[in-house]
Amino acid sequence: MSIEKIVSLCKRRGFIFQSSEIYGGFGAIYDYGPLGISLKNNISQLWWKEMTQLHENIVGLDSGILMHPKVWEASGHIGAFNDPLVDCKECKARYRADELFEGELGDGDWMKIQCPKCGTTGNLTEPRQFNLMFKTHVGPIEEDSNIAYLRPETAQGIYVNYLLTQNAMRLKVPFGIAQIGKAFRNEIVARNFIFRTREFEQMEMQYFVKPGDDDESMKDWKAKRIKFYDQLGIDSKKLRFHEHGPNELAHYAKEAWDIEFEFPFGWSEIEGIHNRTDYDLARHQESSGKKMEIFDQQKNDRFLPFIIETSAGLNRMMLAVLSDAYWNDEENNRIVMKFHPKISPITAVVCPLVKKDGLPELGREVMDILKPHFKVIYDQQGSIGKRYYRQDEAGTPYGITVDHQSVEDRTVTLRDRDTQVQKRISIDNLVNAINDSMEAY
Ligand code: GAP
Repeated sequence: MSIEKIVSLCKRRGFIFQSSEIYGGFGAIYDYGPLGISLKNNISQLWWKEMTQLHENIVGLDSGILMHPKVWEASGHIGAFNDPLVDCKECKARYRADELFEGELGDGDWMKIQCPKCGTTGNLTEPRQFNLMFKTHVGPIEEDSNIAYLRPETAQGIYVNYLLTQNAMRLKVPFGIAQIGKAFRNEIVARNFIFRTREFEQMEMQYFVKPGDDDESMKDWKAKRIKFYDQLGIDSKKLRFHEHGPNELAHYAKEAWDIEFEFPFGWSEIEGIHNRTDYDLARHQESSGKKMEIFDQQKNDRFLPFIIETSAGLNRMMLAVLSDAYWNDEENNRIVMKFHPKISPITAVVCPLVKKDGLPELGREVMDILKPHFKVIYDQQGSIGKRYYRQDEAGTPYGITVDHQSVEDRTVTLRDRDTQVQKRISIDNLVNAINDSMEAY
């Protein structure tokens, strides 16, 4: 299955649109349509619940996208958040050097490498370091003294607020702070739809532990994070861990693991789990001159905690969900998005069989019963088969038909998206029946 099929379905059904399409599109930015925002919200709410509700010692935060520029100096992003950029002088194609060659090359060796686009050799420039942060100016005058950066990760907002949060919530190590928010990176090569974009959302959790407890905590979080993907209904055979080798480790990390998914374009990272040690807090302490240490009352001692970070891309997670859900049901000549019912953008469609004999009125009554519990839509256009197939493609797990018998005995049929089996159910039982089916999925 190709990524193009998903891109096309996403546009057709209102999941994801290219940004500013009427102007020819805007590179590597995407907009989320009605079904897309619903799916994305459902995924992020699961993550938020997992972190801040199911863990008593993890609290939430929402920090600004713009922060004091010193934050990025201290974090190392101004100095080290670079990608090596290579241009082809012949066809003007642009690459990240690590896409063309892994490992180290000496001066002039780039001349021996072939351009994958035009096939010529000897036309690639030496790699130049390119900082990935977007710059802007704060205030009316554009000068170097008021440069600010759009955050390239949400993590730093947590670090600079961690002591305020710890004090306010009376937290004791180990504890965590979770945040969902936009991040921006001026990616050199942005491709594969919403996989690598210049504006994206991160779901990050920073877990503060005693130095020495970090290796054990890393193990715990690896196990917890991979388990989370069960809730999204993702096939576990399409998930694996990848450990970062010394050449891949970010400037702040002692140990790092990626959770990878088998996308239509190959195995790629969805989420990173990093042991950031006390790197960030130590840097902020040094740069700001403010103590970043935690006071241990029992030992009457102060220390800088180590940080285990779990950092997932919401858009990538959604692309994994979309790729995994896509099912070409050839036998029945239909496309089905087999989302887990708990994250489907729409839970049920209510369809009166015909537009007369009191069926639309009863259909509306069923809508009113279901609305407080689920996202439901009403559809009376076209044949019942066509209506169902439309919803199969949108990933709606339940179809409810109101027919002539419904008016007589207040029962409806409940159709299952995957099996297409229909059961007759009393209207009073619908909410329970849907909830039970969602739990059992
Ligand atoms: N705070 C650590 C951090 O930002 P990262 O590995 O650079 O680590 C974490 O990014 C996650 O953010 C990635 O696993 C990916 O899911 C997502 N991400 C990073 N860059 C992205 C981009 N350009 N487009 C979409 N998602 C991206």
